[in-house]
Amino acid sequence: MEAEKAQQRIGKLTKEINAHNHRYYVLSQPIISDEMYDLMLKELEDLEQRFPEFSSDNSPTKRVGGDITKNFETVPHTYPMLSLSNSYSREEIKEWSDRALKLLDAEVEYVCELKYDGVAIGITYKDGELFRALTRGDGTKGEDVTANVRTIRSVPLTLIGQTYPREFEIRGEIVLPRKRFERINEERMANGEAPYMNPRNTASGTLKQQDSAKVSKRGLDAYLYGVYSAEAISENHFSRVMEAGSWGFKIPKPEHRYIEKCGSIEGVLNFIEYWDDERKNLPFDIDGIVIKVNNAAQQEELGFTSKSPRWAIAFKFKAEQVSTRLEKISYQVGRTGSITPVANLSPILLAGTTVKRASLHNADQIEKLDIREGDEVYVEKGGEIIPKVVGVNLANRPSDSRPHVYAVHCPECHHPLERSEGEA
Ligand code: IVH
Repeated sequence: MEAEKAQQRIGKLTKEINAHNHRYYVLSQPIISDEMYDLMLKELEDLEQRFPEFSSDNSPTKRVGGDITKNFETVPHTYPMLSLSNSYSREEIKEWSDRALKLLDAEVEYVCELKYDGVAIGITYKDGELFRALTRGDGTKGEDVTANVRTIRSVPLTLIGQTYPREFEIRGEIVLPRKRFERINEERMANGEAPYMNPRNTASGTLKQQDSAKVSKRGLDAYLYGVYSAEAISENHFSRVMEAGSWGFKIPKPEHRYIEKCGSIEGVLNFIEYWDDERKNLPFDIDGIVIKVNNAAQQEELGFTSKSPRWAIAFKFKAEQVSTRLEKISYQVGRTGSITPVANLSPILLAGTTVKRASLHNADQIEKLDIREGDEVYVEKGGEIIPKVVGVNLANRPSDSRPHVYAVHCPECHHPLERSEGEA
């Protein structure tokens, strides 16, 4: 094939594959079979190999990774990457909105979003092409993880249409869907490896992998929730996010209630109420709700404190807690010979999974709490895969209960323990 023809064909295939990719990973509405898609990708790969002069960093063939990053370069953020102030009660949300209303002395529209429990990312696009992806780092400088972010299928390499700013940054959160996380852990355990703690840590570790081919296989996903540009963009946050959707980004969908405009704080509280219960059914972890003032001029007027914007606040959910019977305390022997007490529970549904065992994570605390077999205990699921016993209902203690005597011998080799549980 002559060069000019090859170049044209590469251009056409790239466009088509990108469009199918968007349909599959962003819209979940594929119109061709996986087989057809693979054939097109294979043809593009072959052509790029024969005509490397026409192969670009943003080619869809680069999704499988392969670039090795030895040290992630540190790059200054164009816009500082701040965090949000947290709140834990509905009253604090009301106080926050009262302050904003007072400062603005005008009507305020809010936007509620999920607070994705992942890793923050800022991705810069120039002329419709993915240019660079940075982690938060210390907020003023981040690490360049572009090669790894290119492997995330829901992150567009080339944008759709003509309406995007020439240069802008889009921010969001990289998450590892729960199903992916569970599968990775099943594989690890089958290989005799220790399971990972939680999806967020795993997403964060994956993003810092040096080999982007490994990142490509992990199944990371990204939800994008903020657009920053020096050029003229829509004057409110909600429409900026929706527009980013039309450029090809995976954005939270209003029809799923992942994002919602609220005219009053009552609407905000209703959104919080809904997700406090419904979050267990999401395909990824969230740890709260983020509430933002919608109008950009009002955001600017409210400005920032030293650490976080006054125009936004996070509402953090409490870890889910249930109570159940502690049947028996057994001991687990770790690889290093350390032994950990384990609570064997009467099975109970907690945050979408049945829990039978929980860690008595801090034996010192457990002794202070005087937890005994037969007790009704409170079990909580925080960030870890193994739930923890966090308390005991003394009012329900059986009358024949005896204090638990911690093991003094190893349950496997019966060797006397060198130091007892709870000792530092
Ligand atoms: S907006 C200026 N929206 O939570 C602050 N952040 O503690 C802009 N996060 O840094 C952040 N979901 O990493 C925003 N819908 C959401 C979010 C969200 C998760 C993360 C993000 C942020 C941190 C704040």
